[in-house]
Amino acid sequence: ALHYSFARKSQNQHQMSRNVLQVKASFKVAILGAAGGIGQPLALLVKMSPLVSDLHLYDIANVKGVAADLSHCNTPSRVRDFTGNDELANCLKDVDVIVIPAGVPRKPGMTRDDLFNINAGIVKTLIEAVADNCPDAFIHIISNPVNSTVPIAAEVLKQKGVYDPKKLFGVTTLDVVRANTFVAQKKNVKLIDVDVPVVGGHAGITILPLLSKTKPSVAFTDEEVHDLTVRIQNGGTEVVEAKAGAGSATLSMAYAAARFLESSLRALDGDSDVYECAFVESEVTELPFFASRIKLGKKGVEAVVASDLEGLTEYEKKGLEALKVELKGSIEKGVAFAQKQT
Ligand code: NAI
Repeated sequence: ALHYSFARKSQNQHQMSRNVLQVKASFKVAILGAAGGIGQPLALLVKMSPLVSDLHLYDIANVKGVAADLSHCNTPSRVRDFTGNDELANCLKDVDVIVIPAGVPRKPGMTRDDLFNINAGIVKTLIEAVADNCPDAFIHIISNPVNSTVPIAAEVLKQKGVYDPKKLFGVTTLDVVRANTFVAQKKNVKLIDVDVPVVGGHAGITILPLLSKTKPSVAFTDEEVHDLTVRIQNGGTEVVEAKAGAGSATLSMAYAAARFLESSLRALDGDSDVYECAFVESEVTELPFFASRIKLGKKGVEAVVASDLEGLTEYEKKGLEALKVELKGSIEKGVAFAQKQT
């Protein structure tokens, strides 16, 4: 039997594994940008999920081969390919979760905001189709800059009259995955146990790992806190530089996106103990969007864990104030883009 294990099940129960034979596959998932660097390994991981009955792959190029290839894996889900605007509506029909990694990635020297001009338009077009065809679905946005593309998506959904803030997520799981990995390495603790909440946004200093809230409790020196924080914030750039022009994180991102998807599907399936960090509409700060730990339920965000922002260290408080300035600008840039287009 296939074992599928990604995320902690809850704050207390850190490991989850499901036996494919025990689960009734039932959810439809669409990946938009499925033939890309993230899309392909993500599609493979989703094909292995026992919770998925149908996997719809959409891209503007090369998706037929990806789907043909994947469809030969003997796991239960049915794989279908869709390409071009004409097939987008069919791809989205009756889908429960849409994952969007469509768009261009960074090259060395670029910030995520440098991708804005291309990816903003791509996300806008895709979300318009989502609004028309599956407005009740969970929407997972991976395309960068997430700090702006999520506000763009929210505006487009509002314009279409179908915005449900509980179902729109910017995927920041990779920041948590990196934080957990780097902390476990540095402190020599068992990786499977480590859980670091990462809040704020998903770019540079807007990524704020709350190391003081690491579970299980770990003692850090000031220097360790600073080094770890900077490494987590620059994790994406570390990969961009190592790939030297060939793109950004794709494999670790696919892993992180699959973990967030699996958590969402478990929540949709009625599991009442699912927590993840994500960039969502939020009231935990004065900003309209903020990444923090959320409880996921059948209807999306069931609660935002606001208590993570209480009792911060001085270092974290300073990081929080600094990130708000940049994050505010990125959110406003996204909103202005979406409003200008109407
Ligand atoms: P890639 O260039 O390898 O793949 C992107 C795919 O999107 C391509 O197959 C392309 O044909 C497709 N595409 C372009 N326009 C499209 C449209 N209008 N409709 C459907 N598909 C379209 O890029 P990669 O490496 O997969 O990265 C994708 C995005 O994910 C980038 O914006 C990148 O910055 C972002 N990213 C986000 C992370 C996060 O933590 N949220 C981490 C890593 C990357």
